[in-house]
Amino acid sequence: MTDTPPIVECRDVAVGYDGKAVLEGVNLTIGPGEIVALLGGSGCGKSTLLRTITGLLPPLSGDVLLFGQPLYEMPLDERYMLLRRTGTAFQMDALFGSMTVGENVALPLRELTNLSIPIVREMVRNRLALVGLPGKEPREPTSLSGGERKRAALARASILDPEVLFCDEPSAGLDPVVAAGIDETLLQFRAAFGITLVIVTHELQSIKTIADRAVMFAHRTILAAGTIDELVKSQNGEVYNFFNRVAETPHAEAQPR
Ligand SMILES: Nc1ncnc2c1ncn2[C@@H]1O[C@H](COP(=O)(O)OP(=O)(O)OP(=O)(O)O)[C@@H](O)[C@H]1O
Ligand SMILES: [Mg+2]
Repeated sequence: MTDTPPIVECRDVAVGYDGKAVLEGVNLTIGPGEIVALLGGSGCGKSTLLRTITGLLPPLSGDVLLFGQPLYEMPLDERYMLLRRTGTAFQMDALFGSMTVGENVALPLRELTNLSIPIVREMVRNRLALVGLPGKEPREPTSLSGGERKRAALARASILDPEVLFCDEPSAGLDPVVAAGIDETLLQFRAAFGITLVIVTHELQSIKTIADRAVMFAHRTILAAGTIDELVKSQNGEVYNFFNRVAETPHAEAQPR
């Protein structure tokens, strides 16, 4: 037994909007250094749950703990401090079009640290190189390809060296080779920083390559959770079909019904 608390814990959590649950009864524990995939059909609530875990949307009920601390039961300033130990790459990459790529990646450093301009510049240079975008600082976001924009978003989400990185569909809409490159980058993050990764994805190939475990949502709650090997052999027909149907057509955007 160790005293290290889980990175993320959801205890009987319901999430949704205007008092109406999108997901409920969510119990989830993600430990340090794990890579966990969140799966489920379009509209099942994956992004909503991520919003709740990342402090943007209070749960309708239940407790959300980050690093062992109840996120929504602490003063706002403490919550912000805790959230600074996390990074999020949103589903839409949300790079600011009015800034260069370098300025986008530097933004968290400029807003949340007192580091000098030369140090910020060096950190941005290194991080862009790490995600496979060396020298792209001066470019406009609109001049990047879809895959490059996703990488730039990863660079910005990770620039403060978070202990956990939440990625909402980091490779959706990309061709398989580019998607595999993003997976490589995510694995590098774990190797380099021991980072915990929580990834929303539909790509079975990606799940198999990088995830230790997956959690699958359907019917407004968790349908199944386990290692990939366990889920591939699931007795639940819905889970089995999802994993094995997609396996026949790698990279297809298959989703459970
Ligand atoms: N701001 C909002 N206000 C009200 N309802 C919302 C809001 N955002 C999302 N929803 C609804 O909540 C449900 C879950 O949406 P969510 O974006 O979490 O799904 P998702 O699993 O991430 O889907 P996808 O795979 O398509 O990204 C959907 O029915 C959606 O229409
Ligand atoms: Mg989503």
